[in-house]
Amino acid sequence: MYILPWLLCLVAVSTAAPATFYDDAYDYSDNLLNYYGKVSKKINKLRHTSSPTKASESCDRSKISLPAYASSLPSPTGLTATYVALGRGTQNYTCADSTASSTPVAIGAVANLYNATCLAANEPDLLADLPTIAYKIALPTNEYATFPPANLELMGHHFFYNATTPEFNLDTTKDKQYGIAMTNKEDSINAPSDATKGEYGAVTWLYLEAVAGTVGDYKAVYRVDTASGNCPTTCKGMPSAFEIQYAAVYYFYT
Ligand SMILES: *[C@@H]1O[C@H](CO)[C@@H](O)[C@H](O)[C@H]1NC(C)=O
Ligand SMILES: *[C@@H]1O[C@H](CO)[C@@H](O)[C@H](O)[C@H]1NC(C)=O
Ligand SMILES: *[C@@H]1O[C@H](CO)[C@@H](O)[C@H](O)[C@H]1NC(C)=O
Repeated sequence: MYILPWLLCLVAVSTAAPATFYDDAYDYSDNLLNYYGKVSKKINKLRHTSSPTKASESCDRSKISLPAYASSLPSPTGLTATYVALGRGTQNYTCADSTASSTPVAIGAVANLYNATCLAANEPDLLADLPTIAYKIALPTNEYATFPPANLELMGHHFFYNATTPEFNLDTTKDKQYGIAMTNKEDSINAPSDATKGEYGAVTWLYLEAVAGTVGDYKAVYRVDTASGNCPTTCKGMPSAFEIQYAAVYYFYT
C-alpha cells in the first residue's frame, strides 16, 4: 500500500497537534475535527484502492483548477496553474480616529506563503478547508519551519510593494529562487456566504494580473478560499493601526 507522504504528515500532526500553536481556541476544534475527519476518510479510501497511487502521479499539476466559485472572476484561459500556496498572515488597516464616523483604510497585507501545489492537485477539497483552521494558527517562530496542520513548506512572502502593488516574492533560500510576481488588482468578488468569517468577515476573492517588475513567467494570481481578514465597518473603538488575521489560498498562473 502506498500513501502519499504529505498525507502521512497530516496523520502525524493530527496525533501530535498540541493546542499551543493556536492563537485562541474560538471555534477551532470543530473545524479541526471536521478536517481530520476528512483526512481519515481519505486514508481509508486509499487503503482500499486497487491501483495504489504511484509517486510519479502524486503531483500532477494539470489536475489543478480554481474552486468553482471563482468562475465569477476572469478565467485563466490559456494559462497554466504552476504553484498554489496557503497564505497566512494579516490584513493591515489604519483609522483616522476611533469614532463611528471614520472608516478603516486597508494599507496592505503581510503573509507567509506555504507550498500547497500538490495538495491542490490531489485533494482540492482538503485544501479549500485549510484556511478555516490556518487563520487561527500562529506562524512558526522559525521562519523556515513548515506550517501545520498539513506540514507545508515555506514557498515565499506576500506583502505590498507600494500602496497599490501586491507583491509575491517566491525567492526564499539560495536553492529556492522561484521569482517574483508583482501584481495589480483587476477584479474582486465577495467571499461566498459560507466563508469562515472570523470577527468581521472574510476578505474578497481576487484576480490579480502581473505587472512590470515581475521576475519569471507569472501572468496572474488568484486569492480564493479566504478566511477572516476583513475590518470592522467603522473605526469605533479601534486603534490608529491594527491587523486582522487571515488565511487564503493563492493560485499562481504562468
Ligand atoms: C502589517 O502587519 C505586519 C505584521 O504584524 C507588520 O509587520 C507590518 O509592519 C504591518 N505593515 C504595515 C504597513 O503597517
Ligand atoms: C512547490 O512544491 C512542488 C512539489 O514539491 C515543487 O515541485 C515546486 O518547485 C514547489 N514550488 C515552490 C515555489 O517552492
Ligand atoms: C507602485 O509600484 C508600481 C510597480 O512598480 C508602479 O507601477 C506604481 O506606479 C507605483 N505606485 C505608486 C502609488 O507608487
